[in-house]
Amino acid sequence: MCSWVVSALIILFAMGGEGQEHGPVFLMEPPPRLVFSNSTGARASCAAHGFPSPQIAWQQPDGAQLDDVPGLRQVLDNGTLVFLPFSAVQYRQDIHATVYRCRAHNAHGAIVSRDMRTQAEPANNSAGNPTPIVVQLPYPSEQLNADRKL
Ligand SMILES: *[C@@H]1O[C@H](CO)[C@@H](O)[C@H](O)[C@H]1NC(C)=O
Ligand SMILES: *[C@@H]1O[C@H](CO)[C@@H](O)[C@H](O)[C@H]1NC(C)=O
Ligand SMILES: *[C@@H]1O[C@H](CO)[C@@H](O)[C@H](O)[C@H]1NC(C)=O
Repeated sequence: MCSWVVSALIILFAMGGEGQEHGPVFLMEPPPRLVFSNSTGARASCAAHGFPSPQIAWQQPDGAQLDDVPGLRQVLDNGTLVFLPFSAVQYRQDIHATVYRCRAHNAHGAIVSRDMRTQAEPANNSAGNPTPIVVQLPYPSEQLNADRKL
């Protein structure tokens, strides 16, 4: 058997092994601002790729990992953060007017997203004034496409 075949097989084997493992890279970062009405709530997504597959979590400004807050906030397994509709008495500044960050990590590293500032506003029910709607700034599509090409 030619020795170059053996060499090629060894190189292929090496490339297919642990060399492909890498730290996480964001596919989708949360928007810088999430403005929403108390009547609609809102959701923000975060996604990253890496090998092995990274785990997604959300953090408070102090770095503490977010928990679910019954009736107000849910952290879904797939990396989406959900703000539920709420009544005026349920308003909480530490949930509805604060800063969040998304964190992705695997065995090869961790990355933290830019800040996302939430701003929940009461629905305006006065006559003639439309109720504020969910404004979720879209992630720039060029950037998404650029990431996908990597
Ligand atoms: C996560 O799941 C929720 C509900 O099933 C869905 O609305 C959301 O788009 C998903 N997020 C991602 C990043 O796929
Ligand atoms: C949102 O706030 C308005 C004004 O306080 C209130 O009338 C409305 O019922 C609230 N929405 C929900 C889902 O509680
Ligand atoms: C609600 O409506 C009043 C009267 O139309 C207006 O002055 C006020 O700015 C509105 N508030 C919000 C939060 O949109």
